[in-house]
Amino acid sequence: MKKYKIAVLPGDGIGPEIINEALKVLEKTAQKSGISFDFTFGQVGSSAIDSDGNPYPDSTHELCINSDAVLFGAIGDPKYDNDPSAKVRPEQGLLAMRKKLGMYANVRPVRTFSSLAEKSPLRTEIVKGVDFVVIRELTGGIYFGEPRGRSENGDVAFDTCVYSRFEITRILDLAYKMAESRNRKLTVVDKANVLATSRLWRETAKEHASGYPGISTGFMFVDNAAMKLIQCPGDFDVIVTENMFGDILTDEASVITGSLGLLPSASIGEKVSLFEPIHGSYPQAAGMNIANPLGTVFSAVMLLEHLGLADEAKALDRAAELSLEKGIVTKDLDRDSKYGTSDVGDFIRDNI
Ligand code: IPM
Ligand code: MG
Repeated sequence: MKKYKIAVLPGDGIGPEIINEALKVLEKTAQKSGISFDFTFGQVGSSAIDSDGNPYPDSTHELCINSDAVLFGAIGDPKYDNDPSAKVRPEQGLLAMRKKLGMYANVRPVRTFSSLAEKSPLRTEIVKGVDFVVIRELTGGIYFGEPRGRSENGDVAFDTCVYSRFEITRILDLAYKMAESRNRKLTVVDKANVLATSRLWRETAKEHASGYPGISTGFMFVDNAAMKLIQCPGDFDVIVTENMFGDILTDEASVITGSLGLLPSASIGEKVSLFEPIHGSYPQAAGMNIANPLGTVFSAVMLLEHLGLADEAKALDRAAELSLEKGIVTKDLDRDSKYGTSDVGDFIRDNI
């Protein structure tokens, strides 16, 4: 029996609840197709600070590098948000994990579900048929560049944005592969009219483009891209961009279809890859059985695809989509719904 080792990091807030539902549907998937998942739990984020004093403990790192994939819930606790003086923050755990696991690419598919079209803040005709992927570089740029810090008197602060040709090439390779498997259209988003790093991105991408004559490569400044994402989101297929632009654009992109709670993501690593919903830890809802588990379930779909289990991924995706069509949804999608987090998970499990 083929066995997969999965590191499970529920994290903070609603993390444990939504992860429970993903495990439920993965267990069923395993039963159905005669494979087996060996789930091992690890601490990360605020709960890891409480237990270990470190938001990404070494024991969690060991667990991750010795697994076939990582399933992650959410990170963040309000007790840190308004305290700029906190020495350790849960988010540092996430950044440390990305860096140490070499997770250089964050992949965020954005697709419309016809049953939810009217949930979008945009007009239905703009949102109809939207289906694109944002690929965000995740271990470079201003998030990690040195030097960073404060001047001696504390009155000046600085961050540094650094990119190497190697980092840009590596993510472009992934973006072109993705475009080849989709609608063969790649948009490289940068700020090459102002930033030196962006000019290196553009130069590298232009060289790269000649190796993929079947793909149409376009370039867009990030401010313009922010506008176009709202004006004509249906025009995009694959977007590739640097770390901070990607952070901002993926939040913007996540609300286009009106389904923030539904969107999954994959962080592709050199050592191991991680799958997580794009939403945060939603601490106000923790323990209330109201959080939407679909973002995590669709992340589990991406995990199955990543493990090469394409049929299993399709079956799970279909069951999850069925829950939307049948209205077995949490209150964020239907105010009058009587279904909780675990009901949605049960329905999906029973329909795989
Ligand atoms: C994200 C988040 C993180 C980021 C934070 C929590 C550090 O916003 O995953 O997009 O900025 O990368
Ligand atoms: Mg973000």
